[in-house]
Amino acid sequence: MNSSLKFATLAFAFFSAVAGAKTLEVRAGESIQDAIKGASPGDTVLVHPGIYEETVYIDKDDITLRGVIEDGEWPNLEGNKQLNDAILYSGNGFSVEWFKITNYKGNAIMGQAGNNFSIRNNWIIDTGVYGIFPEFGENGLIENNVLSGIEDAAIYVGMSDHIDVRNNRVFDNVAGIEIENSRHALVEGNIAHNNTGGILVFITPGLPIKTSYDAIIRRNTIINNNTPNFAIPGSLVSNIPAGTGMLILASDDVIIEDNIITGNNTAGIIVTSQDFATDVAGDSESDPNPDRIQIRDNVMYDNGNDPVTDVKALMLTQFSTKGPDILAYKSAADAERGSCVSQKTAYRTFGLGDWTECDRATVRAADAVASATPPDSTSRAVASKMLSEPAAPRLITVDANGAELVYQGICAGCHTLNVRMIGPPVLAIQAQYGDDAEALARYIATPEKKRPDFPTMPPQDHLSEAMRIEVARYMLSLSGG
Ligand code: HEC
Repeated sequence: MNSSLKFATLAFAFFSAVAGAKTLEVRAGESIQDAIKGASPGDTVLVHPGIYEETVYIDKDDITLRGVIEDGEWPNLEGNKQLNDAILYSGNGFSVEWFKITNYKGNAIMGQAGNNFSIRNNWIIDTGVYGIFPEFGENGLIENNVLSGIEDAAIYVGMSDHIDVRNNRVFDNVAGIEIENSRHALVEGNIAHNNTGGILVFITPGLPIKTSYDAIIRRNTIINNNTPNFAIPGSLVSNIPAGTGMLILASDDVIIEDNIITGNNTAGIIVTSQDFATDVAGDSESDPNPDRIQIRDNVMYDNGNDPVTDVKALMLTQFSTKGPDILAYKSAADAERGSCVSQKTAYRTFGLGDWTECDRATVRAADAVASATPPDSTSRAVASKMLSEPAAPRLITVDANGAELVYQGICAGCHTLNVRMIGPPVLAIQAQYGDDAEALARYIATPEKKRPDFPTMPPQDHLSEAMRIEVARYMLSLSGG
C-alpha cells in the first residue's frame, strides 16, 4: 500500500513539473528567434523544414530546439556567408538536434558558459571558424553530428569539463575534434577523415583556464587526414602539419586506446610539448609538458607516407624518409613524463626510447570493475565522463562575477592574454585602451573592421550595455600568463 501511495505521489510530482511545459512550432517563413522569445524554461521549440536565415540566441534555461525532418527535407539555418553565428546559447540545460546549418562566418552552435547541454544529430557545412563550440561549459554531450568545411575546429570543446564526444563524423576541416584546456573528456567512436589534423588534445597558452587533463580517446577511426592547412594564417591551428592523425600537446593523463589510425601522411600520433609551435608565446602558469600519456592497443599502419619537412628531417636520423606511426617530440620523449605504449615494437616510432610498456596491454571492462584500480586508469570501464547529476546552473549576474563568466564563455573563444587566436591578444588591446572601459564597451557593441589581417569581430550587442561595461573592465584588468 505504501509503495503504491509513493508511486501516486511521484507521478503527481512528475506531471505537475511538466504541466506548464509547452511546444512551440515554427514553419518556413517564420522566425525561430521569435519562438524562443515566447518560450519558457522547460519548453520545446519544434522547427519544420525550410530555410531560416537568422542568428538564434538562447539565454533561458532548459530550452529544447528540435528540427523536424520530413521526406528528407531538413530545417536549414542558412548564413549566406553574411551572418556570424547560427545558434548562440548561454542558458543551462539547452538541447539542440536535427538541424542542417550552412554558410555562416563564425560558428554553427556556440555555447557561452551554459552547463548541462546536449548537441545531437546536426548536419553542419562550412560555418566558418568553428562548427560545434561549447566554451566554458560543464557536463555536456556532443553526439551523432556530421561536420565538414570548417576552417578551424569542427568540434571544439574549449575550457570545459565532463564532456562526451561520441559517434560524430568530421571531414574536410582543418581540425576535426579539438579538446582544449578541458578536463574529463571522452572522445569515442568518432570518424575523423580528410582533415588537416584528425583529433587534437591540447593546452592553448594565455587562456583563463590553464590545464588540460583526463581525456580518453577511444575506438575512433582516424584516416587520411592530409588536407592542406587552410586556417587563417597566424592563428594557432595554422601550425598543425597536414597529415596529422592525432596531436597531443601539453595535455596530461590522456589514454589513447583501441583506435584505428591509418593513412595520415605525417604521423599517426604526435605527442609533444608547448614549444611545438615555436612562434607561439608560452604561459608561465601552464605546464608545457605532456605527462602520463598512455597509447594502448591501437591499430596503426600506413602512416607517414609523405611527412612535412621537419618530421622528414627527424626520421632521416633513423635512416628512414617515412614518418612514424607515433612521434614523441621535444620533452614528450623524456622518461620522467611517465608515458607508456603497448606493443611498442609493432609500430614505426620516433622518440619513444624512454617510454615504458603499458603495464597491462588489455584490461577488460569486467576485471576493471572488479579491480581496485581507480576508474581513470582503466579506460575501458569508463562509460561516460558526464556527471551522474546535472551540474549547478551558471547564473550570469551583471557585476564583476558575471563579467568573468561572460569573458570566459565568449571573449576567451577568440582572445587569449598573449597569443593571437582569432582576435588580437589582450595585452595588445590593453595597450590601446588603457583604462577606458567605456570606449572598449562601445567597440564591442558595433565592432568595425580595424586590422587588415584579422576578420571583423562579431557584435556583442546581445549583452546589455551595463554588462558590456563590466566585461570591458574585466578585460582591461587581466594580467599574468
Ligand atoms: C569570434 C571571435 C571573437 C569573439 C568571440 C570576441 N572577439 Fe574581440 N576581436 C575579434 C577579432 C577578429 C578582432 C579584430 C578585429 C579587427 O581588427 O577588425 C577583435 C578585436 C577586439 C578588440 C580590439 C578593438 C580595437 O579597437 O582594436 C576588443 C577591445 C575586443 N575584441 C574585445 C572583445 C570582448 C570584450 C569580447 C567578449 C565580449 C570579444 N572581443 C569577443 C574576435 C572576437
